[in-house]
Amino acid sequence: MRIAIDGPAAAGKTTIARRLAAELGFLFVPTGAMYRAAALARRRGLSLEATDIAVAADGRILLAGEDVTDLLGSPELDDLSSQVAVDSRVRRRLVAIQRRIAEGQDVVMEGRDIGTVVLPDAELKVYLWATPEERARRRMRDQGGEFADVLAAIRRRDERDSTRANSPLRPAPDAVVIDTTDKSPDQVLAVVRRLVEERRAHVGR
Ligand code: DC
Repeated sequence: MRIAIDGPAAAGKTTIARRLAAELGFLFVPTGAMYRAAALARRRGLSLEATDIAVAADGRILLAGEDVTDLLGSPELDDLSSQVAVDSRVRRRLVAIQRRIAEGQDVVMEGRDIGTVVLPDAELKVYLWATPEERARRRMRDQGGEFADVLAAIRRRDERDSTRANSPLRPAPDAVVIDTTDKSPDQVLAVVRRLVEERRAHVGR
């Protein structure tokens, strides 16, 4: 079973996808972290061809064999990853890796284009959403900063991610959209868990 979780920055995708994958015993694949690793590679001056990005257990990210997971959460990489993600060569490469990971394996994959491009026939597609203000508050809890600055950065990223020509952020037509603005992670997880159970009954797994 393949579960796609898409949505804008700081909508809770990683939190929900990680917990869901742990509960179900599926592989957790954070594709946002893969774009962040591509951004880190570019900042280190590595060529795309020399950039080997892999996902290990627990969604840890390996860049040319080095575990870079703990370097990926900075505000600088928030912005740089969204810029790198516009590059169609980077996308082609990462999408190929993501599809290969999902072959013959149960996955919870989170990102922007999983339900629309990477796994268009995923058994379950969820689109998590929240107001920009709520997402800015969540981001501040993790990274600190001034509300106005964090909100402006979120809006800038929303704009870039959803207006790019290649695989823009948008819900797949068959995605279940969940507004998480007034929901705790536990509440969102309960909704998603119910959807998984329905879908499992449907596909007989
Ligand atoms: O989810 P995130 O904030 O870690 O993602 C970082 C950036 O990577 C995001 O601004 C856009 C890009 N991204 C993408 O284009 N496609 C994906 N499937 C995941 C992330």
